[in-house]
Amino acid sequence: MPRFVAAIDQGTTSTRCILFDRSGRVAGIAQREHEQLFPQPGWVEHDAETIWRNTESVIAGALESCGATAADIAAVGITNQRETTVVWDRATGVPVAPAIVWQDTRTAALCEELAGSAGPNRYADRTGLPLSTYFSGPKLRWILDNVPGVAERAAAGELCFGTMDSWILWRLTGVHATDVTNASRTMLMNLTTLQWDPEICAEFGIPVAMLPQIRSSSEVYAEITSGPLAGVPVAGILGDQQAATFGQACLVPGEAKNTYGTGNFMLLNTGTTPVFSKHGLLTTVCYRLGDQPAVYALEGSIAVTGSLIQWLRDNLGLIDSASEVEGLAASVADNGGAYIVPAFSGLFAPRWRPDARGVITGLTRFVTKAHLARAALEATAFQTREVLDAMRADAEAEALDLELTALKVDGGMVGNELLMQFQADILNVPVVRPVVTETTALGAAYAAGLATGIWSGTDELRANWAEDKTWRPAMSDDERAARYAAWNKAVERTYDRD
Ligand code: G3P
Repeated sequence: MPRFVAAIDQGTTSTRCILFDRSGRVAGIAQREHEQLFPQPGWVEHDAETIWRNTESVIAGALESCGATAADIAAVGITNQRETTVVWDRATGVPVAPAIVWQDTRTAALCEELAGSAGPNRYADRTGLPLSTYFSGPKLRWILDNVPGVAERAAAGELCFGTMDSWILWRLTGVHATDVTNASRTMLMNLTTLQWDPEICAEFGIPVAMLPQIRSSSEVYAEITSGPLAGVPVAGILGDQQAATFGQACLVPGEAKNTYGTGNFMLLNTGTTPVFSKHGLLTTVCYRLGDQPAVYALEGSIAVTGSLIQWLRDNLGLIDSASEVEGLAASVADNGGAYIVPAFSGLFAPRWRPDARGVITGLTRFVTKAHLARAALEATAFQTREVLDAMRADAEAEALDLELTALKVDGGMVGNELLMQFQADILNVPVVRPVVTETTALGAAYAAGLATGIWSGTDELRANWAEDKTWRPAMSDDERAARYAAWNKAVERTYDRD
């Protein structure tokens, strides 16, 4: 009887394989980082072939870390950085160009062109998304327009498009498919039919033949054909933020989670009817289990949070490792009047300003690198406050019962005590961290395990969730209001720079 379910988590900065036991605890793990390529200002690329090699390596590493073999693995779930766009040759499997990463802004002019006189919300009622550089559709169109020969080969049916889930599934099994959550981030899927929208595809100039088949998030897609997991079924696929929502057991309308990764992503389960935001949030598919109705979410996506800490390390050399930021920030009492707004990919939710660029405000001779470290952590909390305010406004407008007695958090930065306390202070809401913070991988494992009978149903997933720590607000209302006002002033400078 297999003991574990494996999750492959193909993220923005690294690829991991984690083995979970039936209680949802981590039993084995391996991880590999890949290079971030910045060939021009605003461009961000990944090498899909390297990511595949890393996937193979972490699968082997995770099995080895706990002495497991394919016989111990009931099923595999895939979760992934969403929107990042890969095009490859159907016959040879060779990518035709570097993958264009979700943070890449090269499609800004194309998005304006596609919006035309209808404006950025031209497709929002069908896709739940504004026209933005963030999503895959414009990235795919850019590849078709700019990589020589690709448009002709795509029209002849020789090429496949995929987000990272499809790329990995195809390499593991030879099947060209994706799940509804990933498809809902392309701008090419109709949220009601849960199929590619032929009209949008035509208007984007994208041949439907190159798109993967859209399946549910939890079903047997195919068996792995070779390697150490040969014969094991891939039985779950979810975009990473949807997977984290599932792994946090946000399974009824009104439950929300916030993930602190390279960016931050807050998702609110809104049930089986899509809710369309009036305050700058996205409507997205949260998950679909087999042939059950799809569950939708409202999402507040923030492009740059954890990656700002990497930027302090790699571009400014203020710290040697990301973990140093907390100690440095804690060595001063406050931000010394400095605010950093990391609009490196423009601003995403709730402002959607592709023209925004990062700023640091409030600099005096008094400000040290410790104040900047603090301002960088605070930027994550302030951006989250903007998204939560938007979510509250939408929930109120739609008479949705948003259960925000506490915010469930996860992701790499939730080990940072200073940030978590500041987050609770700025939101004026308790912040709760679960025991298992690997919720993204766990969500994908749950989807795969549900499809193969390892878990009996969602009640069992809910029972697995346990609290580790809660941070309670401890800031006065006046201080909170003054700091948030200063933040908002700084944000306005990102797109009002003349
Ligand atoms: O939408 C982008 C998101 O899926 C990336 O997540 O955790 O790889 O930064 P992460």
